[in-house]
Amino acid sequence: MSLVPMKQILDEARKKGYGVGAFNVNNMEQVQAIMAAAQKTKSPVIIQASRGALKYSNFTYLKHLMLAAVEENPNIPMAMHLDHGNSLDSVKKAISLGFSSVMIDGSLLEDGKTASDYDYNVKVTRSVVEYAHQYGVTVEGEIGTLGGIEDGVGSGSIHLTDPAEAKRFVDATGLDALAIAIGTSHGAYKFKGSTNLAFNVLKEVRALITIPLVLHGASSVPKELIDAVNQYGGKMPGATGVPMKELQEAITLGVSKINVDTDGRLAITAAIRKVFATEPEKFDPRDYLGPARDTLTGIIAGKMNDFGTAGHASDYQPLSLADMKKVYAK
Ligand code: G3H
Ligand code: 13P
Ligand code: ZN
Repeated sequence: MSLVPMKQILDEARKKGYGVGAFNVNNMEQVQAIMAAAQKTKSPVIIQASRGALKYSNFTYLKHLMLAAVEENPNIPMAMHLDHGNSLDSVKKAISLGFSSVMIDGSLLEDGKTASDYDYNVKVTRSVVEYAHQYGVTVEGEIGTLGGIEDGVGSGSIHLTDPAEAKRFVDATGLDALAIAIGTSHGAYKFKGSTNLAFNVLKEVRALITIPLVLHGASSVPKELIDAVNQYGGKMPGATGVPMKELQEAITLGVSKINVDTDGRLAITAAIRKVFATEPEKFDPRDYLGPARDTLTGIIAGKMNDFGTAGHASDYQPLSLADMKKVYAK
């Protein structure tokens, strides 16, 4: 059994100074591509599902796809993680499905859009920690809100994590991993001009707290994928992401979990568009979902190498949730 608490994957990564990608999934091909990349590079892996993904797949389908990945890949430590949980109820649902890790994003209110205040964030995160740790399940929280420094959503540093507040938040909640805002944003249009990440904030946070740090909005939006999408009929002018060199810098400065959804979407879209444009006679879904899966495998394997995850799958003995329960009970 290779389903492990995410805490183990991140603590090991933190110890050795490498990053672990957390890849979003909605369907079978994405799950298979991630596991194929993990096998190819011998990497531990975090598979994550958003509330939208769980709803899209009617919960049970995605649960069983992730469990199939566990069953098929006993040599790969894998965490099943809820991305951007918005309430204790959404966390309870994920834990009932067998997830080994949950995020509670208390930086936003339950609508997932409105910025909350610090007291709300502490209260909801603390309630999730108390609940999840009884099951040995890892908890990720977030302080500061995403949205680029230059993306027009508010202005400048008001979105960025305040390091002193991050320290108080960790002490008040007892969570296992902390997502911080250093100027990234979700999606394919992250920066208007050049990349502008607040590495000074990351350094200050890292100096104050010891738990693993998480970077959301970490897709690189590679030019070759955007070019392929546009070449075969897509329309994504001006798409930009976080260059790999900057992600590697963030890992060196102490980020352990790197969230990637958009790049997976782009890989799939580029591959499918190419088949539709160049082989218009094809109509068997395997003829375009197969290439999509292969393209995604290549993109993810590349990230596993670049983040330094490759080769670490058999560094440690996997812990179970029951083992973790005992750790939390001490
Ligand atoms: O953080 C957001 C992820 O990219 C998930 O997106 O809610 O559209 O599934 P989604
Ligand atoms: P991207 O949109 O940059 O892939 O970020 C995904 C993410 O943060 C999921 O939680
Ligand atoms: Zn996110």
